[in-house]
Amino acid sequence: MSPKQPLLLLEPLPAPTMEALAKDFTLLQFSTLDALKEVAPTIRAVATGGSYGVAPEIMAALPNLEIIAVNGVGLDRIDLTEAKKRAIRVTVTTDISTDDVADMAMLLLLALKRNLRSNETFLRKSTWADGTLPPLAHSLKGRKLGIAGFGRIGQAVAQRAQASAMEVAYFSGHHHANSPLAFEPDLKALAHWADVLVLTLPATAQTKGLINAEILEALGKDGVLINTARGSVVDEDALLTALQNKTIAGAGLDVFQNEPKINPAFFALENVVLQPHQGSATIETRLAMGQNIIDNLHAYFSGKPLLTPAY
Ligand code: 8YV
Repeated sequence: MSPKQPLLLLEPLPAPTMEALAKDFTLLQFSTLDALKEVAPTIRAVATGGSYGVAPEIMAALPNLEIIAVNGVGLDRIDLTEAKKRAIRVTVTTDISTDDVADMAMLLLLALKRNLRSNETFLRKSTWADGTLPPLAHSLKGRKLGIAGFGRIGQAVAQRAQASAMEVAYFSGHHHANSPLAFEPDLKALAHWADVLVLTLPATAQTKGLINAEILEALGKDGVLINTARGSVVDEDALLTALQNKTIAGAGLDVFQNEPKINPAFFALENVVLQPHQGSATIETRLAMGQNIIDNLHAYFSGKPLLTPAY
């Protein structure tokens, strides 16, 4: 590789990833546009997170930007039209987080169905020792799980749900001929059929607010919503109303609108299990994602093909 390139880090990466990157790059971390100004013309590469992306004003402030390496698979926080127009390359961590995110969906579902939160509170308050028992929970076996978005993560959720003896169907832009699972082209019909609706859709203009009051009504009072995709896919006001009025049974949410400053109304609810966007946040996966960023940047600056280009 040529001499050390500056690399603008918009979201911190695991320490071992940063140490490895620092061997070949001068790592730059700025939180304000003003601070960035002086070095902006020297920056050809940016590394950022899927949920953080690159703000339009940052992209505009980097006249010589050539590559954005995303520590994730979500591209909703990057203006791809602008990136393509400027011939900026974008990489994603294709398939590395699939299993962890699918595990998170099942974790949220099981926590809700098996009363994990309330049972632990019961235990910690010594109620068990007083001779009472908590209310019975619900099994997954035989229940219907609908998946909205049938990409890698959706398919990994399907595998896990089948291992839990659930019946599975999916909604997607197209029928996946290689899958034996039932394809439902109508999201409302899927929500009506399902006991559990799991969201694994990408956040796009088309999916914004897709899960609205009508879909939640179709899911019904015994239905559960699980979101490991993006907060923007859900009309959050409609979801909060449905949870407050118990017109759906509950929700397991790893993602929200306005992360990390999420709507505090969620904290008042008993029928939710909440996580601070932790789907891919394991040491193993985050180190592998970090390695993907290193490898893509090395490939780019050595004139080799990118490993996992976004387009
Ligand atoms: C990460 C993600 O939390 O893959 C994505 O798009 O949102 C997550 O895996 C994120 O990229 C880290 O910022």
